[in-house]
Amino acid sequence: MTFSLDQLRRCTVAVDLGAARTRVHVKHSGLVVDEPSVVAVNTFSGALIAVGAGAERMAGRTPAHIRVVHPVTGGMVVDIEMAQRMLRALVGEKVRRAWRRRPMLRAAVCVPQNADPLARRAAVETLAGVGARRVELVDAPTAAGVGCGLPVEQPEATMILVCGATTTQVAVLSLGAIVSAATVPMGGDTIHHTLVQHLRNHHELLLPSHAVRPLHIALSDAAAASSVPTEVHGRDVVTGLARTVSVDPQDVRNAVQAPVTALIDAIRSVLHNCPPDLVADLAERGMVLSGGTALLPGLDARLRESTGMSVHIAEDPAGCAVRGLAAMMEGNARPLTVHGCR
Ligand SMILES: Nc1ncnc2c1ncn2[C@@H]1O[C@H](COP(=O)(O)OP(=O)(O)OP(=O)(O)O)[C@@H](O)[C@H]1O
Ligand SMILES: [Mg+2]
Repeated sequence: MTFSLDQLRRCTVAVDLGAARTRVHVKHSGLVVDEPSVVAVNTFSGALIAVGAGAERMAGRTPAHIRVVHPVTGGMVVDIEMAQRMLRALVGEKVRRAWRRRPMLRAAVCVPQNADPLARRAAVETLAGVGARRVELVDAPTAAGVGCGLPVEQPEATMILVCGATTTQVAVLSLGAIVSAATVPMGGDTIHHTLVQHLRNHHELLLPSHAVRPLHIALSDAAAASSVPTEVHGRDVVTGLARTVSVDPQDVRNAVQAPVTALIDAIRSVLHNCPPDLVADLAERGMVLSGGTALLPGLDARLRESTGMSVHIAEDPAGCAVRGLAAMMEGNARPLTVHGCR
């Protein structure tokens, strides 16, 4: 179903349910939630123990009676009940009371560009469970494009990458809609797992999750040029004792080569499926990176090098999608057509 921007203007809440973070923007109040999409529950009683940052801190450190759940994966709600409980707890009683006073609460939520009917339905059900009477769905690349301030409604090509936690969506937009798009299973969490596996297989080291981010520095161009090894601390796979290893920056770059190559292939296939006039626009304007993984050191340089296009990282890339939804909801975006369902 296609509808106009007017439908979005009637919404009062904009939600980006991401695999890593949940963001909620309430009309005239601004961003009220920007927290990890994590819930900790008591496995015996089913009671909620913590949500958001509190629950994330518990991951990997729980006793048997506590389970840490991620209700969203790859931009899709996989556990509707948990996602509803998480949203309710994150927005807080004050906002929930305000929503209850609105008999016709409308919510706008972004979904992946390739979301199937089940994924779309799951997003609608989740929002309906927290009181929304009507839910408008907007594809994430369009929302992120608007959030980056790109002229997506113009008859000109705009290439946007939504680099999330588990997937990256590559889309070419023109006249407010997607002309060509692809999704690759590459994101911040993919890079994280790739590096953990690499250290395990090549250095026999089990890396704690907080030790992965410092390794990202080795992906930057400056680190590659200096070739100064990065020291990481972990647990020896065989002895179980604490151990420190020095990792060569080139080694780290080689480890993440496969997911980055998959992304470059996706960009090429999107360009291949694009009408020539739009490709000519893109040669001039390049692409914009949004989503948290856009901040991965050296990613922009690698894309620039392999596509020959200019690459720009959006300001506050992780918040682009919810900002775009909010701009459309608050009437700050120019007219465009979006797709949605009830
Ligand atoms: N400075 C950074 N460097 C590298 N990766 C980062 C950085 N900041 C955030 N990330 C990664 O970005 C991801 C979160 O981005 P974002 O909030 O856009 O994801 P999401 O919207 O929750 O996920 P998805 O869109 O896939 O459902 C995480 O995997 C995180 O590791
Ligand atoms: Mg996202």
